[in-house]
Amino acid sequence: MRLDEDKIQKHFSGKIFDIISSAADEMNLECYAIGGYVRDIFLYRPSKDIDVVTVGKGIDLAKAVANKIGKGVKLSVFQNFGTAQIKYKDLEVEFVGARRESYERGSRKPFVEDGTLEDDQNRRDFTINALAICLNKNRYGELLDPFGGLEDLENCIIRTPLDPDITFSDDPLRMMRGIRFSSQLGFDIEPETFDAISRNKDRIEIVSKERIIDELNKIVLSPKPSVGFLLLDKTGLLELIFPELVALKGAETKDGVGHKDNFYHTLSVLDNISLKTDNLWLRWAAILHDIAKPATKRWDNRLGWTFHNHNFIGEKMIPGIFRRMKLPLNEKMKYVQKLVGLHMRPVTLVEDEVTDSAVRRLLFEAGDNIEDLMILCEADITSKNQDKVRRFLKNFQIVRQKMKDIEEKDHVRNFQPPIDGQEIMDIFGLAPGAEVGRLKSSIKDAILDGIIPNEYEAAYQYLVKKAATIGLSPVK
Ligand code: CTP
Repeated sequence: MRLDEDKIQKHFSGKIFDIISSAADEMNLECYAIGGYVRDIFLYRPSKDIDVVTVGKGIDLAKAVANKIGKGVKLSVFQNFGTAQIKYKDLEVEFVGARRESYERGSRKPFVEDGTLEDDQNRRDFTINALAICLNKNRYGELLDPFGGLEDLENCIIRTPLDPDITFSDDPLRMMRGIRFSSQLGFDIEPETFDAISRNKDRIEIVSKERIIDELNKIVLSPKPSVGFLLLDKTGLLELIFPELVALKGAETKDGVGHKDNFYHTLSVLDNISLKTDNLWLRWAAILHDIAKPATKRWDNRLGWTFHNHNFIGEKMIPGIFRRMKLPLNEKMKYVQKLVGLHMRPVTLVEDEVTDSAVRRLLFEAGDNIEDLMILCEADITSKNQDKVRRFLKNFQIVRQKMKDIEEKDHVRNFQPPIDGQEIMDIFGLAPGAEVGRLKSSIKDAILDGIIPNEYEAAYQYLVKKAATIGLSPVK
């Protein structure tokens, strides 16, 4: 089959493909664009990463191409892997010789031999990723699609080219990749392929945590992440890689009183928030906001089901989860912790009376993350009762307005108390100690509670009065 001229012109015009084509012809090498780049042409997802496979030495072709381009090209050769990479302008072209791979059970590292294009296509993960387009002049634009990848693309299907048990057992990361593609592209996983993931799920143990989290994060960033999470759950992979999330499942009833299934609720929150933000860490806050509900669930004869302090316990659980999953243990984690810890606060504001002092405290504690916190809280409303949803969202609007008014008036969002610890020590001739901390906090609290304005003179007067109650007076 030949691609229509337009598509070839659009994607394979330009210097780089002309040069690869003539270099390969001069060396008498068969040469193809292959894999994700070709798939993405049909998905109208322009890509700057091009994989080129040659029947012969990929490195030799890369060197010849780099020579022909001359100025502005960067060539890196990975002799051990038999690959080479060219960076030219904003393009990255990876060259590799066509290969045949065989695997041992305990490892993702294959035994590699030179092979034909067909061998190379056979070893690929999915039919849609096994498409190749010839770059040699006499067959330029010819599509080689031995497994019906184009049809699968048209029908939105993820399917392995060979027996799926072999494809997944060879490289179990592909189970995650299949689910990730399904979630990213909105494709269905073909039943045989799906069943093989369930059968081979335990093989995920030979895949490094880093590779797993890369794929999971791509699922988290997909347009409707619940698609991927539900597939992970149904295949049994989720239990293996993220048991805390599976533990949210189930809705118990006692004396006729039930609670919502927090697993499905969490996935709805994640889908909701994904309509509003592409911030990976805000999406993670949605995933983890109720993570401590199983640990804090109690039955109370008066109140029914309670999950007291699940926000704080959840905040504490996050470092353990991040460490195990190889998520970063830096300010990104702290940001997720902060949002999980605070996620009940705006709702409490709505339910109770919205006092200025409560709004000030929230603004102060959330600081620059206040908008993200509001996005999380709004996404957290997943009731099926539309009236209730509308009522909550309206109340959040009131809270937002109140925050705006108070911030304009009092500037408490990122405020530092106007008198710091050093100055307190100087004023009262104190040595560092708990006393200084207490006095400093009392100024902060007085400002947040609206007792004094956020100004130096008022803070000084208040401090002197406060210090007098514990027998301290200014030494200067
Ligand atoms: N591949 C594979 N098995 C893997 C990883 C990759 O068979 N575990 C093959 C596929 O043919 C894939 C190609 O290598 O298309 C390139 O892989 P990669 O660049 O990792 O992924 P893409 O498919 O290009 O997709 P994305 O860029 O979205 O990760």
